[in-house]
Amino acid sequence: MNIVIRQEQEKDISTIYSVVKLAFEKVEHSDGDEQNLVNRLRNSEAFIPELSLVAELDGEIVGHILFTKIKICENISLALGPLSVVPELHGKGIGGKLIIKGHEIAKNLGFGSVIVLGHPAYYPRFGYVPASNWGIKAPFEVPDECFMAMELIEGSLKSVSGIVQYAKEFFER
Ligand SMILES: CC(C)(COP(=O)(O)OP(=O)(O)OC[C@H]1O[C@@H](n2cnc3c(N)ncnc32)[C@H](O)[C@@H]1OP(=O)(O)O)[C@@H](O)C(=O)NCCC(=O)NCCS
Repeated sequence: MNIVIRQEQEKDISTIYSVVKLAFEKVEHSDGDEQNLVNRLRNSEAFIPELSLVAELDGEIVGHILFTKIKICENISLALGPLSVVPELHGKGIGGKLIIKGHEIAKNLGFGSVIVLGHPAYYPRFGYVPASNWGIKAPFEVPDECFMAMELIEGSLKSVSGIVQYAKEFFER
């Protein structure tokens, strides 16, 4: 299966909307707003064009990942999410490819760490561990093992702790 991961382009926006909507349609913890969240974040100050990536299979967009800028006290980091793969292609490594490519680009851009709110059975395989290991907390109630962080650059979170400040667009509807 030839999967290409590349930066999103303007012409992809409506397809990305559909892919995100489809990916989250049957997800238990979804609020059904992820596709709109992606649109809001694209217009926010936290948006980094190089870190909105699509996965293409035979020229068709089948997945998307977004990393946006966050602050942990005065430290800049990234939030991973939403991450979306069309349901019929789950379990083929597409999500993993999006994460790994995103990490590589983020590191090249100089980011040292990433935070994710997600499933504790999935993200640890990409290096994520509970953010509480560093004293990093979510700004909302969440099970400890679901709120994770990873260092793209070793030691980058060493003296970082506090409450994550997401882009305000995360909390709008
Ligand atoms: C999460 C998601 C992006 C993963 O994409 P994917 O291309 O299927 O993932 P990969 O093929 O890289 O990895 C598949 C593995 O992850 C596991 N996995 C995927 N989603 C998981 C979840 N929510 N919880 C636990 N494990 C999960 C699969 O069981 C599979 O495990 P295996 O390798 O041991 O068989 C995709 O399932 C999806 O779009 N889900 C709906 C939207 C969503 O929940 N996004 C993430 C929000 S945190």
